[in-house]
Amino acid sequence: MRAPHTSRREFLKASSLTVAGAALAGGTAAARLAHAAGTDEIRVAVIGCGGRGAGAAANCLEADPAVKIVALADAFQDRIDSALKMLSGKFGERVDVPEERRFVGLEAYRPAISADVHLVVLAAPPGFRPPQYAAAVQAGKHVFMEKPLCVDAPGFRSLMDTNRLADEKGLKVVVGLQRHHQSRYLEGMRRIHDGAIGDIEFLRVYWNGGPIWIKPRQEGWTEMEYQIRNWNVFRWLSGDHICEQHVHNIDVGLWAMDGQHPVEANGMGGREKRKGKDQGHIFDHHAVEFTFADGTRMFSQCRQMSGVMTNVSESVHGSKGVWNSNDQRDDGNNPYVQEHVDLIAAVRSGVKLNEGWHGGISTMTAILGRMATYSGQVIRWDDAVQKGPRETPEVLALDADPPVLPDANGLYDYAAPVPGEYRPFP
Ligand SMILES: NC(=O)c1ccc[n+]([C@@H]2O[C@H](COP(=O)([O-])OP(=O)(O)OC[C@H]3O[C@@H](n4cnc5c(N)ncnc54)[C@H](O)[C@@H]3O)[C@@H](O)[C@H]2O)c1
Repeated sequence: MRAPHTSRREFLKASSLTVAGAALAGGTAAARLAHAAGTDEIRVAVIGCGGRGAGAAANCLEADPAVKIVALADAFQDRIDSALKMLSGKFGERVDVPEERRFVGLEAYRPAISADVHLVVLAAPPGFRPPQYAAAVQAGKHVFMEKPLCVDAPGFRSLMDTNRLADEKGLKVVVGLQRHHQSRYLEGMRRIHDGAIGDIEFLRVYWNGGPIWIKPRQEGWTEMEYQIRNWNVFRWLSGDHICEQHVHNIDVGLWAMDGQHPVEANGMGGREKRKGKDQGHIFDHHAVEFTFADGTRMFSQCRQMSGVMTNVSESVHGSKGVWNSNDQRDDGNNPYVQEHVDLIAAVRSGVKLNEGWHGGISTMTAILGRMATYSGQVIRWDDAVQKGPRETPEVLALDADPPVLPDANGLYDYAAPVPGEYRPFP
């Protein structure tokens, strides 16, 4: 399976042709949107108003003067309040979210999507992404969604179905794998695909970084609220950090490989320093060897640990040379804004743009890697996709039990997979 990938170069070419065509026909790109939507405004709902949701909303407002934020949804009122304060302070009347368009709760995405909006920003924890993406596309909305796109195989399958529906409906989808909108990556991939480093022999991708934030447990929080607030350290919400962070680097490797996914993976990992009541049950390091259909290998490492060397980069080794992302320079573009510029250009021009395809395949590759490190077995792509278990709960409510509970000492360590014992499927 290859992601039907549209490179930014192809996209820009197609988009400028379409815009030029529209201008020749006597209409501007903006007029096309006005015609389609009956208004020149681009009305946006933000679902998941935390650090990135608020940040993506700001980037979307920066991207185009026609954007207005008109609805906010979050599991918790305090996150809506802080996002609204920041956005209103910075963008004034372009943030028009009266009380009746502020939606709170785990199902708050539904009324936000149904509000009179053209585009939705999905930035809740990744475990919630597939149903929220499906609801947005079913309602006919364009989508910007943060990575990763799912945490398990059933989520991946749902996501790919939604990609198909988005394409059928002509909806535009951009994913927060912002390297696809960053000049040094675009230029590097253009050169790699043009043969500048010869045939690809192997790839190395890394996110070896430090520990991330945690939110201390507050009185009155249910266990479900505690986990959703600390979603990073619970597999059912984040997919583990191999999925949550390292997907960026894995995605670059797959991009270099023309959107192919690996056919199998083996690896090792564990929980060396991640100890304590606030550390959930995910690993703190993973090392994976992914193998593609032609035998090419991609070596991947990710770590969230203090006191050790760090390295966030991608390298592609070819028969005639090596490309390393950290040796390159950007031309000053801000990829977090550019991704919204590109999305809005596609909405206006009608050119095809759906990054859910490569975003989904990159996310599933990270999930495949996780199955390999958790189990210590060779895991095949087809098995992972077809038989991978559901991680998210059947019943989702703040007073329901999440899929993993703390033991009598308040620890989740018992639920961390043990290689050789854990099996992702029978
Ligand atoms: N592209 C990037 O560089 C980048 C950077 C940071 C984060 N991210 C991604 O953005 C997403 C959000 O991360 P963050 O750092 O903003 O986390 P965060 O915890 O600050 O924000 C998540 C928000 O979602 C809310 N939420 C939880 N459940 C919800 C639900 N069912 N419906 C609606 N809202 C819900 C939370 O209350 C919170 O406000 C993650 O997928 C993360 O991987 C991407």
